[in-house]
Amino acid sequence: MLRLQTPLPDSYTLATPEELAARITAARETLGGDLLILGHHYQRPEVIRWADLRGDSFKLAQWAAEHDKTKYIVFCGVHFMAESADVLTTDEQAIILPDLNAGCSMADMANIDQVEEAWAELARVVDVERVVPITYMNSSAALKAFVGQHGGAVCTSSNAEAILSWALGKGDKVLFFPDQHLGRNTAFKMGFNSDSMNVWNPQRDTGGLDDATIKSTTFLLWKGHCTVHQRFNPEHIAKFKSQYPEGEVIVHPECSHEVVEQADRTGSTERILEWVTAADPGSVIAVGTEIHMVARLAEENPDKTIISLDPLICPCATMFRIDEPHLAWVLENLVNGNVVNQITVDPEISKWASIALERMLEIT
Ligand code: 13P
Ligand code: SF4
Repeated sequence: MLRLQTPLPDSYTLATPEELAARITAARETLGGDLLILGHHYQRPEVIRWADLRGDSFKLAQWAAEHDKTKYIVFCGVHFMAESADVLTTDEQAIILPDLNAGCSMADMANIDQVEEAWAELARVVDVERVVPITYMNSSAALKAFVGQHGGAVCTSSNAEAILSWALGKGDKVLFFPDQHLGRNTAFKMGFNSDSMNVWNPQRDTGGLDDATIKSTTFLLWKGHCTVHQRFNPEHIAKFKSQYPEGEVIVHPECSHEVVEQADRTGSTERILEWVTAADPGSVIAVGTEIHMVARLAEENPDKTIISLDPLICPCATMFRIDEPHLAWVLENLVNGNVVNQITVDPEISKWASIALERMLEIT
């Protein structure tokens, strides 16, 4: 999806790191309690150091909802996270994304027209009252609203199992979008086998599935993926284990099932952080997730050897768009009374997306 970010004035792009740091510090002091900066674990170090709270997408959504008196929430993360924060906060609060081009390529792999079309196609084959749509947090507010309107819920990588179990308690089938890997990994974890899952390809009629297959499938998994996490492969694990037979491999559930099967543990970014922090001194751990998070884990755990499962760097290009010049620009504008880059979800979409998000918060 194209989101146009205004080019920054030279006073930001040409400023030295020291000048930017001084200006960000000054703006934060001026804004005081009116400002909360939230930062996702994948943010670069120069940015994450300014975050008042740092977390995974679930925690950041919870914190946004809890800070209902904070006037400005600057979201150092990606567009769908800022949208969720807007849905969960009041109309008096402004959610600001420092760079509007910080999207998520996975979230863009499912749009509302495609999902509505898939739903209509499913309705021709099965009773959609028995199909529960579940969207991963990594999706637009319009998709969250769709699941809210159709009896479904949102999930994140830290609560997908609880949400999918809930869904199968109220229906026979789940349409899960946009990440096929999180859906598949969670379904396997719940004890289902590959016969109960099929990929729904939005580029093909009826998802590329025949009627009999649609009827017999429990998990219809949207053909979407994360370009960062799908880079990890079983060969990376084999290589690491041959070098460090006692070493442990921890990966994010957006990795393919072949990787998850061979990893020692799989968890959301927050869970990975907890596991690495709790590991014994001297532990050797290969982590399969975004490189800025892995580098930070290595830095914050100097008594352990923490390395990236993929020796070649795999940053999330869209998370990387948030930088100090953009942060300084939005903060100084706030000081001057201008709210720039506010993320506002249409009220009707927001109403239904809020129902889907609140369902998630209630279930977990
Ligand atoms: P978390 O839900 O673990 O924060 O992951 C979000 C994300 O974008 C992972 O790629
Ligand atoms: Fe999206 Fe993948 Fe980046 Fe996460 S790491 S924000 S899923 S592109």
